[in-house]
Amino acid sequence: MFRTIRFRLTLWYVLVSGSLLILFSLYLYSLIAADLRAQFDRSLLRAAEATAAFFEETAEQTREVSASAQETVRELRLPGAAMAIFQEDVLLASSSPSLSRDVLTASRSEMAARGHEPRIADIKGGRARLARRRLQIEGNNYSVILVEELSGLSAQLQSLRRAFYFGFPSALALAALGGFFLVKKSLAPVVAISEQAEHISVKNLSERLTVRDNDELGRLAGVLNALLSRLDASFKIMGDFMADASHELRTPLGVIRSSAEVTLSRDRTVHEYKEALKAIEQQSIRATSLVNDMLALAMADSGERPLRFEELYLDDLVEECCRAHHPLARRKSIHLSSEIARDIQMNGDPALLKSLVSNLVDNAIAYTPEGGSVSVRFFAEASNVRLIVSDTGVGIPSECIERVFDRFYRIEASRSRNNGGSGLGLAMVKLIAESHKGSVELVSERGYGSTFTVLLPLKA
Ligand SMILES: Nc1ncnc2c1ncn2[C@@H]1O[C@H](COP(=O)(O)OP(=O)(O)O)[C@@H](O)[C@H]1O
Ligand SMILES: [Mg+2]
Repeated sequence: MFRTIRFRLTLWYVLVSGSLLILFSLYLYSLIAADLRAQFDRSLLRAAEATAAFFEETAEQTREVSASAQETVRELRLPGAAMAIFQEDVLLASSSPSLSRDVLTASRSEMAARGHEPRIADIKGGRARLARRRLQIEGNNYSVILVEELSGLSAQLQSLRRAFYFGFPSALALAALGGFFLVKKSLAPVVAISEQAEHISVKNLSERLTVRDNDELGRLAGVLNALLSRLDASFKIMGDFMADASHELRTPLGVIRSSAEVTLSRDRTVHEYKEALKAIEQQSIRATSLVNDMLALAMADSGERPLRFEELYLDDLVEECCRAHHPLARRKSIHLSSEIARDIQMNGDPALLKSLVSNLVDNAIAYTPEGGSVSVRFFAEASNVRLIVSDTGVGIPSECIERVFDRFYRIEASRSRNNGGSGLGLAMVKLIAESHKGSVELVSERGYGSTFTVLLPLKA
């Protein structure tokens, strides 16, 4: 539960919105508090101004300063605020007797601290505010002082704080709830995808995930589907390959077994034993070459055999291959001719290129009847080399041209098998050409012969 993305996202959401809420509340609170305080000060100052004006007017009318001060205090007494009038340091009138000393010391120290006329200041350790208005009447200095407790303001601020204290957890709970549902809703497709994917195994690789929308998750499902398709195709190829391979191996193994069984069923002459062993040898050679071909293909597929590229003279390689095939051609009375341009240096894997040339020449001889001819031509072009192996053999029907490069594909399986072919030769040729960034082309007509053209870049 605590490890789920849903939980973690909700937690982050609550943390972020909680911090924002706290910051915003603090900002709002300080703004309101400052505003209330400024309002409080303004009205206290206005009251001090009005008091001073009243005092001045009364004093000028009656010419009795002390009495005027008493009258001012009596007349203008404000609820919640205390008032005092001084002539220099002497108290003329005060609305509350305890006030005079406090006020005197506070206003003195304020004056000393600020130097100039302090109009408004904190007293009683910040629990009250003092406003002071100075005036001159007939050359004498007077101060009108008003003091108001901050308790009203504090109560207002406290109720504001209380509103925040109660509002904050509820807002946070709502945010958590909203966040949870939001996250749950947006993760629902992921949950659906993983539930569907859980049910897909090798047995039902053809199933696909449902792509709902064209958003990020829809694209994810699409990408997974493409991956499934590729896996499906690879599994099919692998399965086919296994089936074909076992089918191919069954023939030589069956022949070996039956030869051995039949021969061992009773005593034989030395000649008969020799014949049986010869047949067994032949079939084992076939099986071995089949297994070797399969291994080479499997290794090339998996990239297990790294390509060993080097600078080589391809003309030497082609020449050597033709020479090696001469005895075979002669045995079948096939005229094997070659036309090889000299000194063609290129970059490639010699073992693989040898196998490519020999596979093509092998096929040409194998699928050309006695008395036919096979020609090998090799020359360089601007940035390519071109190898052309053509024969006057049985040819390949046009509908099979596409497929002859497939693994285990043979046009006439039985005839080809008698030639010792496994159906892997041309697949190897294609793979080798492509691993050298080249290509193979085939032009053929049934009954008239075939021409295989391999194009390889000089610098692979
Ligand atoms: N030069 C050719 N002339 C006619 N048919 C050919 C030639 N080369 C290949 N083929 C056909 O293509 C099939 C595939 O060739 P390949 O992959 O070399 O397998 P195989 O082991 O049968 O030789 C062969 O079975 C054969 O029928
Ligand atoms: Mg072959």
